[in-house]
Amino acid sequence: MQNGPLVGIVMGSISDRDVMDECIKTLKEMDINFEITVSSAHRSPDKTRDYAISASDRGIEVIIAGAGWAAHLAGMLASHTTLPVIGVPIDSSSLRGIDSLLSTVQMPPGVPVATMAIGRGGAQNAAVFAAQILALKYADIAKRLEEYKEGLKLRVKEVEKD
Ligand code: RP5
Repeated sequence: MQNGPLVGIVMGSISDRDVMDECIKTLKEMDINFEITVSSAHRSPDKTRDYAISASDRGIEVIIAGAGWAAHLAGMLASHTTLPVIGVPIDSSSLRGIDSLLSTVQMPPGVPVATMAIGRGGAQNAAVFAAQILALKYADIAKRLEEYKEGLKLRVKEVEKD
């Protein structure tokens, strides 16, 4: 059973919140405890570093980082922790997230970031992927993940009826 937050959501700016709400909604659906922090790789590098260094000791098991523009947030967090880091590229610049996608996914060998799709779908998938990691250890999360996947199947069937 979970006690404190298991997932640490970090976003580069409060302006990323709208997209990251998809992630928050899905974590809530699966009853996974999380915490939310706003910290930027470029604007508050010390805070970002301190977050990554302290996350594991505070009980966080997976970090989800959402950022836009030249999105170095997920990579910077990954460079300071051995926790799995999931990156969500956010489409906040005029390049519509292609910049964030490449700067999140193109990590050098040895420092991976599990990079999701750009935008809301990616934010939702970040929550599902975090659940998949946590399900290896937490039977209750594994059960809710199964239910979530069953829900996806049912939605496909519903469409077939129309
Ligand atoms: C990035 O710059 C943030 O992740 C955000 O997507 C983008 C714009 O930030 P604001 O100027 O809206 O604070 O670092």
